Amino acid sequence: MLCLFNNWNLFNDIFMAVAFKCKLDSHFNTQKLEVSLRPLGYGDRESVQRWLSDPYIIQLTFVVTGPGNYPSVPFSTAAADNYINMLITDQSRVTFAIEVNSEHIGNIGLKEYSPAKNYCEFFVEIGKDQYRGRGLGKAAIAALMDYTLGVLNLSEVHLEVLEFNSVAIHVYEQLGFIMTHRTGWHYDRNGQYWQVWGMTLTKERWTSCKKQLLLPANVIIKPVALSTP
Ligand SMILES: CC(C)(COP(=O)(O)OP(=O)(O)OC[C@H]1O[C@@H](n2cnc3c(N)ncnc32)[C@H](O)[C@@H]1OP(=O)(O)O)[C@@H](O)C(=O)NCCC(=O)NCCS
Repeated sequence: MLCLFNNWNLFNDIFMAVAFKCKLDSHFNTQKLEVSLRPLGYGDRESVQRWLSDPYIIQLTFVVTGPGNYPSVPFSTAAADNYINMLITDQSRVTFAIEVNSEHIGNIGLKEYSPAKNYCEFFVEIGKDQYRGRGLGKAAIAALMDYTLGVLNLSEVHLEVLEFNSVAIHVYEQLGFIMTHRTGWHYDRNGQYWQVWGMTLTKERWTSCKKQLLLPANVIIKPVALSTP
């Protein structure tokens, strides 16, 4: 009897999960999804801290150079505060919140930004997992590339990516980024070393790749409103 009861609970849980996923998919497939970037602010502290505690994000975004250099996760409130302060106040950074229909779903931005040296690197993370894999990351990066290579008028954008981050590499290549060289090594928790790849997108390549960019029909990109950082 208990077994039947347990099975029924399991069946019910599975049914509810499938029903929820169908409802979610239908929402994402039918609603207009407007992707916009706005400057990150101190009011975003809570979500930044939450995403900074997510092992999925950490393992794909933090380069660990060797044994003993693994970040101590979850980050303390003080460490998360330092991180958000840096994102907002560091003069060589321009950080945006990614919003979909005004909901904050992730962060994106430039680091090591130097107009004088015509240099910048970029980073991105979709923090809310139900928003990943729906064309929204690609749309957010496209908005940032238009801003960086258009409004800020840089001629190239650089990034670093771990060799096992196949989703990110796929998206970057679609946007026109080209792998240039190995920038270093990443050491994982199982003691394995992985390559860290440098990728670059030039203004010329962005101009041509942008025309071929495929996004879901209901995803709309709103241009970045900021003139200069
Ligand atoms: C990387 C990231 C920003 C991409 O954003 P996203 O919204 O999830 O990606 P999109 O939905 O726009 O595009 C995903 C693409 O990857 C493809 N994809 C899915 N799984 C894949 C896999 N295992 N291997 C290769 N490509 C894959 C999808 O088919 C889609 O491509 P398509 O449009 O040609 O069909 C997001 O997944 C993320 O934040 N990941 C965690 C943090 C991270 O990795 N940041 C980057 C560090 S360099």
